[in-house]
Amino acid sequence: MQINEKQGLQKLPFQFLCGKRSIRFFNYRSTSCKKFGLKIKIWLNLGDTNQAMKRDKLIFKLLDEEQERQENGIELIASENFVSKQIMEAAGSAATNKYAEGLPGKRYYGGCEIVDEIETIAIERAKQLFNAEWANVQPHSGAQANAAVMLACLQPGDKILGFDLSHGGHLTHGSPVNFSGKLYKPFFYGVKRETGLIDYEQLKEVALREKPKLVICGASAYSRDWDYEFIRRVADEIGALVLADISHPSGLIARGLLTDPLPHCHIVTTTTHKTLRGPRGGMVLLGKDFENPFGLKTPKGETRMMSSVLDMAVFPGTQGGPLEHIIAAKAIAFGEALSDKYMKYIVQVKQNAAAMAEAFVGLGYEIISGGTDNHMMLIDLRNKNVTGKAAEIALDKAGITVNKNMVPFDDKSPFVTSGIRVGTAAVTTREMKEKQMKKIVELIDDVITHIDDEANTDKVRKHVHELTKKFPLYL
Ligand SMILES: Cc1ncc(COP(=O)(O)O)c(C=O)c1O
Repeated sequence: MQINEKQGLQKLPFQFLCGKRSIRFFNYRSTSCKKFGLKIKIWLNLGDTNQAMKRDKLIFKLLDEEQERQENGIELIASENFVSKQIMEAAGSAATNKYAEGLPGKRYYGGCEIVDEIETIAIERAKQLFNAEWANVQPHSGAQANAAVMLACLQPGDKILGFDLSHGGHLTHGSPVNFSGKLYKPFFYGVKRETGLIDYEQLKEVALREKPKLVICGASAYSRDWDYEFIRRVADEIGALVLADISHPSGLIARGLLTDPLPHCHIVTTTTHKTLRGPRGGMVLLGKDFENPFGLKTPKGETRMMSSVLDMAVFPGTQGGPLEHIIAAKAIAFGEALSDKYMKYIVQVKQNAAAMAEAFVGLGYEIISGGTDNHMMLIDLRNKNVTGKAAEIALDKAGITVNKNMVPFDDKSPFVTSGIRVGTAAVTTREMKEKQMKKIVELIDDVITHIDDEANTDKVRKHVHELTKKFPLYL
């Protein structure tokens, strides 16, 4: 086994671990070799200037347990995914130590030359991936990205129009318990009761009546594509800006599998950790930059471009120092998302969701809107006489992770709910295909139709382990 001389690693102490699976990156670089039929893992201690600090065995034990949980379970939470090892490595890298308030080339701290390069690569790759003229990759999360956009576009008390949380929208689109519903005056549109599809007439009617300053589209639990062109036309009638929050389907949008909002919506936000399969984080995009419509000027008296207003809304508006280690991980994720391998992956995500929806319908489950165009679906369990809460708990015991979710016009509280939301982004990362989707639905059905039968749940759990063993995650 060769160790790179330039890295000087051979001078450092190392230890051998045989047969123990781990992907820890903190302070260590791991490398594997196969000799005598044995898998040997060599851990190279890269040195630790804080050697006096005792290793926190408790936390690392829990992190090992979390990894085991992920390895052994079937992950169907639609907003989750599994990043590559190189993304995890970047997220645990030395860039975590660096303060870099500002933007590449315009920082408030010294020593930023290298993180400037990293952030510039992340921005350029994000622009290429989404065919965007401008990107800010600093938002710490999707909620932070939305907060920055609202700070940039609104004054406290301004009206906003978003997709109702109880129909599939997101907290940051005007919920009364969120900053967006507290600082601004929210109005909502929902889905049609008969079809489960966005009620565009209602959207138009509320928009024309209330004249919100910002119209928000995008969802946390909606399985269909969006008519961004229609929404833009409505917004133009009332002089509103349109924000598309594509946190969930951004990977599908980036690779052309769903309608692209960038040509239609003024501003686009996304998380980077769902279908995009990057580290936890957010970003803001502009398909085309434009002069801000609020009359904001630069110190030279020129009208500020919207990109500059948004940059300032991220920092110093809503955040302090960017997370450069996460930005490095985002850069890697965007690079991966531009690859042919990711294209195959994201096509499979969509095919798997379609197969899963078909299997659920085949077993008599009601999917809101009847099916899916993206990676997820919302299942109404009322005809099975099971609540979302009970299903979530029982499935968890069987090693299948889903989340309870309100269905449109739900008669139960958000703590109980009538539905569950499932998605295929994470299981597809494990290279599961249509055949496994059918099997997973059968396992879910087995649990739900024997909800109080613990022996049955244990039996399903064994099947779950058999399945996950065939599709290892980080081995
Ligand atoms: C549509 C939408 N927007 C924003 C967010 C918030 O993202 P984060 O949890 O990273 O703040 C989510 C998260 O689920 C989401 O689904």
